[in-house]
Amino acid sequence: MNFSTITDADFDSFYPVKLQRLSATHWTPVAVAKKALSFLNEDGKNTILDLGSGAGKFCLLAASWSNAEITGIEQRAQLVQQARKIASQLQLQNLQFLQGDLIHLDFKDFDSFYFFNSFEELINPKDKMDKEEELDIEAHQNRIEEIRKKFEQLKKGTRIATYCGECHEIPESYLLIKSENKGKLKFWEKRG
Ligand SMILES: C[S@@+](CC[C@H](N)C(=O)[O-])C[C@H]1O[C@@H](n2cnc3c(N)ncnc32)[C@H](O)[C@@H]1O
Repeated sequence: MNFSTITDADFDSFYPVKLQRLSATHWTPVAVAKKALSFLNEDGKNTILDLGSGAGKFCLLAASWSNAEITGIEQRAQLVQQARKIASQLQLQNLQFLQGDLIHLDFKDFDSFYFFNSFEELINPKDKMDKEEELDIEAHQNRIEEIRKKFEQLKKGTRIATYCGECHEIPESYLLIKSENKGKLKFWEKRG
């Protein structure tokens, strides 16, 4: 498959039908991944962390298109398994998937970050991946607050691309560099 011209339908065909059905709501569109990667990896070989990597769509695309070192962290074991399976099929060397809570990861190991509104499922019934899970507004606020603190501690020049959401996780020390896709995709850089 030629990744430079890949469509969403082409990419999603790597997934079983159940995960293909989640794509429109939960996985990054190819065109968005392309723009986010070119911002996050603008100066060459960066280390990029996808915070809540799901079935790996952003990471797999980014690793196929670049020499950046890509890491995805995802809490759901089955999604991690699926992402690792495709990475191995594609023989991608510059990519790893971790399983766990992104809150416990040291953000200082990375140059730039991709965040596709990963905590939305805690407050929005339309974004729930598991029907039986309860909404939890307090947990949502706590997680936003925690990653905000982590972003605040990073070095000047750190870049973040956010897709969807209100962006309350971005501290004031980050400047909004540009905004695309009708404001859904935002590019931030730490100034102070
Ligand atoms: C909207 S999906 C985005 C998936 C992927 N980044 C992509 O663009 O294709 C958000 C993912 O974040 C994961 N997630 C939510 N909270 C998390 C946490 N605390 N730690 C790790 N993963 C988390 C969810 O399980 C879900 O798979």
